[in-house]
Amino acid sequence: MSAMALSKSKQAESDYYAKLGEGGLEHSARKPYSDDNCAQYHANLAALFGVIEPPPQRIVDFGCGTGWLSLCLAQRGYQVMGVDISRDAILCAQKEAAKRGLDNARFVTADYEDFSEDGISSDYAVFHDALHHAESETQALSCAYRTLRIGGAAIVIEPGRGHHLAESSKRAVETFGVHEREMHPSRVVAAAKRSGFRRHLVLPFPFHHNRFIYRRTYKGTMSSGELRRRCLLGALRVIRQFLPNRREGMVVLWK
Ligand SMILES: C[S@@+](CC[C@H](N)C(=O)[O-])C[C@H]1O[C@@H](n2cnc3c(N)ncnc32)[C@H](O)[C@@H]1O
Repeated sequence: MSAMALSKSKQAESDYYAKLGEGGLEHSARKPYSDDNCAQYHANLAALFGVIEPPPQRIVDFGCGTGWLSLCLAQRGYQVMGVDISRDAILCAQKEAAKRGLDNARFVTADYEDFSEDGISSDYAVFHDALHHAESETQALSCAYRTLRIGGAAIVIEPGRGHHLAESSKRAVETFGVHEREMHPSRVVAAAKRSGFRRHLVLPFPFHHNRFIYRRTYKGTMSSGELRRRCLLGALRVIRQFLPNRREGMVVLWK
């Protein structure tokens, strides 16, 4: 990363993992299994695998953290570069890649709003749960745009509506000084247009399909008829996700 001084909030992002301590870092490194959002992460991963071409493709994972997603992609055979502002997170990701023998996963400490690396011409840029930490999403998406080949795509999967108002987000802002911003699809698409992206598609939030259909609450249902009704209701909720004005979703942006 350049020797230029970071802004206060970026310094906070950079220090976050060190402040979390051993336990926090361990939790992060063992994602997605260590996390209560395990099902959500898997749904996102499945959607990502559905949208991208099979390996070999080159993927940059912006704001990769300790690298769980990069490592999954690398294990599938993609050429992956993980980028994160936190040196502690990157060291952890590098260690894990070495442990798994993944020489197709490379990790660099860098600010994704000021990222330039010679000779990258990636097929995909991914922001998973990371763009809402940006000071400027336009800057971040402009950097992603520059890493992509013509016809390449950025895929943005951010937390759902109201994430910035969640207690855990407020606590993270208070305790660590990191960014927790609302990053709904319309904001992403507006920034993407400013960054040069030509086309976009907003797809339903992958986890909603899981959430509405694959439910633990079926067990409390007494009759087969009631089970079928609940299942149908779930399917209708999935269909509703395709209506316009969604404030959450997976955004695909093409260069
Ligand atoms: C909520 S974590 C998500 C990490 C990972 N993508 C995941 O899905 O677990 C957000 C990540 O964005 C990183 N980040 C925040 N601002 C950044 C910046 N300006 N440049 C690069 N990484 C940044 C943080 O260090 C953190 O690892």
